Amino acid sequence: MYNPFCSVEIEFSNMQGLHDLINTGGDKKTLIVCDVFTTDIWGITDEIKAGVAAGHLAWVDKCPGNPTQQDVYNALMAVKELDPVQIIAIGGGSTIDLAKAVSAFHHLFKDEEITIPLITRALKEKSYTAPHPFIDIIAVPSAAGTGSEVTQFATIWDVDKVSKFSIDTKENYAKKAVVIPELTLSLPLRLTLSTGLDALSHAVESFWAKPTNYLVKDIALRAIDMIMTYLPQVLADPKNLELRTAMSRAALLAGMAFAKTRTTACHSISYPITMQYGLEHGLACALSLDAVSKINREKTALADMLFEVFEKHGGMRNWLDATCEGIVELRLSYFGIPKEGIDGIVEGTFTKGRMDNNPVDIKPEQVKEILLSVY
Ligand SMILES: [Fe+2]
Repeated sequence: MYNPFCSVEIEFSNMQGLHDLINTGGDKKTLIVCDVFTTDIWGITDEIKAGVAAGHLAWVDKCPGNPTQQDVYNALMAVKELDPVQIIAIGGGSTIDLAKAVSAFHHLFKDEEITIPLITRALKEKSYTAPHPFIDIIAVPSAAGTGSEVTQFATIWDVDKVSKFSIDTKENYAKKAVVIPELTLSLPLRLTLSTGLDALSHAVESFWAKPTNYLVKDIALRAIDMIMTYLPQVLADPKNLELRTAMSRAALLAGMAFAKTRTTACHSISYPITMQYGLEHGLACALSLDAVSKINREKTALADMLFEVFEKHGGMRNWLDATCEGIVELRLSYFGIPKEGIDGIVEGTFTKGRMDNNPVDIKPEQVKEILLSVY
């Protein structure tokens, strides 16, 4: 069985390309997954409504951050009648992840009464890996961070806040990613920061993840250098399309790198912080980036190459502090997380397939130390 490095067709485009994408679906039944708040900003609401009225589009117009089984249920119900042959997902990682869930479950549940327990069971038992048709996805990322447009993973957050689920199958790769840096021009500073730090975490973690390889490392180093160069510049000049384009390119590279390796300790530590305290994913990942880097340094082959890039930008901790300045302080206390909550975070930290993907075994006591160091 061959396993290509990246099976997704990737195209860089512009706003005209987005309009063309929506309007050329005439002969194909298409599901648009894009929050109405977003379609209004980009002036595509009327085009989508016209397609819905003409009968060739369906529209999931509510795409909350961190989608739950309830959001998956709502989307599946919205799409049942149209039975689309493709999905165009326009938005951040959560939106593209929701589209992946619809792609994975629409045909799987065709003859069943869709309920939240049914979705939960399928997520837990990974029944979506049984052979069945998936719907083709065209992914249009609206932020420079998640990489979901070039990965086979989707995260669904437990509606009961007990755990998070990963839909993880090759069938979930988008057929095509259309990268439109103009879409990121309207991102607020805090979202620009958190998505940029998510991309940085993807690149750094792919570099040292257990299944890394030379190609992943080369791509990751380029992504890290670009993010450490351009993220502070973009935050100082957010309407600069050239800088936004550089961040879109870097996030795409980071996505391609961790698509081959999955993430490690930093992402694993981030999940309970996001689930229990609602902290943005990228900020939650970046909290432990410096401390985990130090722990991994000794055992990581070619570590010097990684740390040379960090040093070029003043070192990871200094760079993080300087980049976050004026937007957030990268400390648990700043985000209102109580010290007594640390034990609860440690308990939820050990996500299978992420923590054990770290090159060095990290024990619960060490996670506690890491969290206290960023309190
Ligand atoms: Fe991430």
